[in-house]
Amino acid sequence: MSNSIRRSPFIPFLLFPIFLLSTFATSTPRDSLNRGSSLSVEDYASDFLTSPDKWFTCGFYPVGTNAFSFSIWFTNVTEKTVVWMANRDRPVNGRRSRISLRKDGTMVLTDADGSIVWSTNTTGKGFQAELLNTGNLVLRDRHGNLSWQSFDFPTDTLLPLQPFTRNTRLISVKARGQYSSGHYILYFDNDNVLRLMYDGPDITTLSWPNIELAVFRNNRTSYNRTRIAVLDEQGSFTSSDNTGFYATDLGYGIRRRLTIDFDGNLRLYSLNQSNGLWIVTWESNPQSCFVRGLCGKNGICGYTPKPTCLCPPGYKTSDPSDWNKGCEPMFEKNCDNPEDMTFVELPHTDFYGFDFNRAYSIPLETCRDLCFNMCACEAFTYRLSGEPYCFLKASLFNGYNTPGFEGSVYLKVPKSLNLTSKVSTPRGSNPTCGNGTKSNEASPTPSGNFKSKKNKSTWGYLYSFALSIGAIEALIIVSSWWCLFRRNEMPTLMENGYRAMMSQFRKFTYAELNKATKMFKEELGRGGSGGVYKGVLRDGRVVAVKRLGDVFQGEEEFWAEVSTFGRINHMNLVRMWGFCAEKTKKLLVYEYVENGSLDKHLFSNTSFLNWRERFRTALGTAKGLAYLHHECLEWVIHCDVKPENILLDGDFEPKISDFGLAKLSQRGGSGSEFSRIRGTKGYMAPEWALNLPITSKVDVYSYGVVILEIVRGIRLSNWVMMDGEEEAEMTRFLRMVKRKIQNGEDTWVDDTVDPRLKGQFNRNQAALMIEVGISCVDEDRNRRPTMGMVVQALLECEDEPELYTANIP
Ligand SMILES: *[C@@H]1O[C@H](CO)[C@@H](O)[C@H](O)[C@H]1NC(C)=O
Ligand SMILES: *[C@@H]1O[C@H](CO)[C@@H](O)[C@H](O)[C@H]1NC(C)=O
Ligand SMILES: *[C@@H]1O[C@H](CO)[C@@H](O)[C@H](O)[C@H]1NC(C)=O
Ligand SMILES: *[C@@H]1O[C@H](CO)[C@@H](O)[C@H](O)[C@H]1NC(C)=O
Ligand SMILES: *[C@@H]1O[C@H](CO)[C@@H](O)[C@H](O)[C@H]1NC(C)=O
Ligand SMILES: *[C@@H]1O[C@H](CO)[C@@H](O)[C@H](O)[C@H]1NC(C)=O
Ligand SMILES: *[C@@H]1O[C@H](CO)[C@@H](O)[C@H](O)[C@H]1NC(C)=O
Ligand SMILES: *[C@@H]1O[C@H](CO)[C@@H](O)[C@H](O)[C@H]1NC(C)=O
Repeated sequence: MSNSIRRSPFIPFLLFPIFLLSTFATSTPRDSLNRGSSLSVEDYASDFLTSPDKWFTCGFYPVGTNAFSFSIWFTNVTEKTVVWMANRDRPVNGRRSRISLRKDGTMVLTDADGSIVWSTNTTGKGFQAELLNTGNLVLRDRHGNLSWQSFDFPTDTLLPLQPFTRNTRLISVKARGQYSSGHYILYFDNDNVLRLMYDGPDITTLSWPNIELAVFRNNRTSYNRTRIAVLDEQGSFTSSDNTGFYATDLGYGIRRRLTIDFDGNLRLYSLNQSNGLWIVTWESNPQSCFVRGLCGKNGICGYTPKPTCLCPPGYKTSDPSDWNKGCEPMFEKNCDNPEDMTFVELPHTDFYGFDFNRAYSIPLETCRDLCFNMCACEAFTYRLSGEPYCFLKASLFNGYNTPGFEGSVYLKVPKSLNLTSKVSTPRGSNPTCGNGTKSNEASPTPSGNFKSKKNKSTWGYLYSFALSIGAIEALIIVSSWWCLFRRNEMPTLMENGYRAMMSQFRKFTYAELNKATKMFKEELGRGGSGGVYKGVLRDGRVVAVKRLGDVFQGEEEFWAEVSTFGRINHMNLVRMWGFCAEKTKKLLVYEYVENGSLDKHLFSNTSFLNWRERFRTALGTAKGLAYLHHECLEWVIHCDVKPENILLDGDFEPKISDFGLAKLSQRGGSGSEFSRIRGTKGYMAPEWALNLPITSKVDVYSYGVVILEIVRGIRLSNWVMMDGEEEAEMTRFLRMVKRKIQNGEDTWVDDTVDPRLKGQFNRNQAALMIEVGISCVDEDRNRRPTMGMVVQALLECEDEPELYTANIP
């Protein structure tokens, strides 16, 4: 795409830095800052640090009238490109401010009045500061060891080789040409997935990866807890969650940066060294209007052809300098006289999410009446493609316009505004599908072409250049948004919750637990290691208290081990709240899981799980085990995976219990690894009997038995008498299934699945589960998959349509 189109809007912005940089170029820069020396803001144009290869400069950068930030920027590119700022939200005065490497070893930025605006907090450790060729400002101690680096505190830009970790986030600037923190954030979420979030004044919403797809559908994984990502020198970005993208000009020797722009798009830029301009070589949301929150509340994003924010008729912009604040109505909402309200139709427009309700296959008039009679209904969307769908809108966010959306939004406005009932669609212009705004379109200008008029021409202009987006995509987005809300899975920064969880883990006294369980009155179950009792803590939490037998010795060791498990936090593992260790009394306090163990829901004749719940159980259990095996703080083998140890919560989400007990009991044992056989007959891998080293593959075997039991609905771990010889039910079952598969019998899946389901199951999922189960129980543990692989395989099938009814002959 031609550079001139791309460049034209920036010309006003370019002149300033060119001027600025040419001033810089005339001076002799420093290559390091020693203890006791400083840079002062008055000399910003001549006194700064540069990297040895001169690509980067570090010093005071003007960010406004008489306002400066201590920054790092590319030395001689045409567009101003700051890559790091120490004090983006607190610029310092243009006089008497200075950055000093103090005698106490800290690098400190002080304002005109001497107040400390920013500090590296490296007391005693900073000896010399230098700017590396990578663009990293480092502080070294006396021995030359690193004591601080700017790479650990990115602002909105990640440079090649700068690691992006669990502790770092990129935060966009507020608007083009500004430097203060905006609302878009790139971060590793609590589930280890790299995400882009809009955390705005009115809403918080995710933009990338595609929120309507499950993690796996986005080609991401959530089990690698490393949480690290890096852009390499060739322009390829890789992350521990499997995010991968690369510059279209992949290769060495090109200057790049990854920046989260003010419009919420994450873009990879390459520098064209012949003209000093940045070229976009990758972006997270090529369809910029799909970046959530872009135009704020009530605002609508459309392509003109540049993505542009507009206010709907009857609305005006709230703050022309900040589109994230959106639009506000030019009328009073009044529910006393509903008759005074009417609707204005905006064709091919929708506001994504925030539905009160939605209704299927009802006429437009009914949809209109529903909204009309509901005071809080601000608008309704009527979608035409496929079955008509009616969405009643509680709030208007994420507005976008595209001819690809077959349907309209109808805004509720007062009659007195005299608006036309339908804002006209374009006349005589061809939508330029997929042309014009593709990925070479750098940074759209939400505030650029803004017009808050309610007249037809604005809308006509908007429509005439709009891009097409598949209607189906729009449908999926709308419906899954609804799901997100319904399931209450609004993205949150869960860090706080995590900390709360940590602090809740504690030591209990025996007296306390005795009281909580009313002297161990209500027994929930009994296992090899002891009984489990229901209890209620003083704070009202319902818990399950497990009493351990004598094998668990040594208070200190017990505490050390148990606290490790107390830190394990995964939705598919039963959470440990605390423990008690008093002399011989050893107790563990777990969260109480209301629906009991899987065996009760699988092998009982009265109530058994439906297919969806079964699949969910299989997947959740696999996730929990994968987490224990691969991602935990410490590597943990469960050693006793069986339906009794898989608990189901109120939503039938499985939670594995008793993990870590193998490790605990092993401590108390003779000292040799896993000298005592653990596990339950029928679920135990052959390695136990063969005296082979025990690895996580023993759990894979047990899981294989469990998943086959989930499909089959009977105990396969039982032993039966066959012709006077004891044989595992499992052996018979495997023989039967393998024979049917070998014989090419089409009905092998239907014959294998629990007949009580009466054919109500998803065939693809069932086939996959059987295959997974069979591979997990392979005698040769090297041929068994890892739990991570099992999760991957099951996730492939997760989004299958709800139910498939098999043909029952
Ligand atoms: C700055 O630009 C000039 C010419 O455009 C180029 O020769 C020089 O290498 C550049 N300097 C750096 C540090 O890249
Ligand atoms: C230094 O410590 C202060 C106060 O604890 C903190 O606000 C600031 O972010 C720290 N600075 C850096 C660069 O970590
Ligand atoms: C600093 O580096 C020296 C030599 O490279 C090393 O012996 C020393 O342990 C390091 N000190 C710290 C605190 O890392
Ligand atoms: C996932 O990867 C496959 C294969 O590389 C690709 O076809 C698909 O578009 C990717 N999905 C997403 C959401 O990126
Ligand atoms: C997790 O990600 C890191 C970094 O990408 C990688 O080195 C490591 O092998 C991954 N771990 C697993 C279990 O996949
Ligand atoms: C880099 O800039 C030059 C000069 O403007 C131009 O001819 C060339 O096509 C540009 N290269 C790329 C990859 O855009
Ligand atoms: C709307 O139309 C009515 C009657 O035509 C007129 O009295 C009223 O002033 C108009 N209101 C506005 C806001 O133009
Ligand atoms: C896009 O526009 C350019 C020039 O306007 C034209 O040459 C090209 O064929 C168009 N591409 C498509 C896919 O329409």
